[in-house]
Amino acid sequence: MLHWTDDLAVGHPTIDNDHKKLIEIINTFLDQSHSADNATLMNNTLKSLLNYGVGHFEREEQIQRETNYPYTAMHNREHKVLIAQIKDMANVYFIEKSRPLNTASIHELNNLLKIWLIDHIKKCDLNMREWVDPNAEDVKD
Ligand SMILES: [Fe+2]
Repeated sequence: MLHWTDDLAVGHPTIDNDHKKLIEIINTFLDQSHSADNATLMNNTLKSLLNYGVGHFEREEQIQRETNYPYTAMHNREHKVLIAQIKDMANVYFIEKSRPLNTASIHELNNLLKIWLIDHIKKCDLNMREWVDPNAEDVKD
């Protein structure tokens, strides 16, 4: 299971709450990955991540523009990669059906989701902190 810890906070309530919700979606998957029906679990998880993830990235990018975050282009490219990773998996298993849906598929999604969000928060989102957190010390210069 993934755990929200204070070192993941970027200090903006909308972004932090969205991240907690994404962790919840991922944990629901991790929790059910040993017991639930593979196809339903994969389908529900990929759909939830796409639905909620796309909305979250839009909200985050909007906040970046409002706070004049200078690295939006680079950051938004990372968001596109994250969405593409989920879409690719949805394609493979539900559109093209080029690989069978089985425990190996669950394992593949499991491995992706353990790092998918947390790595992005640590490597990219925390860089926004000085801009989006109203209480952050001014270290922009
Ligand atoms: Fe981000």
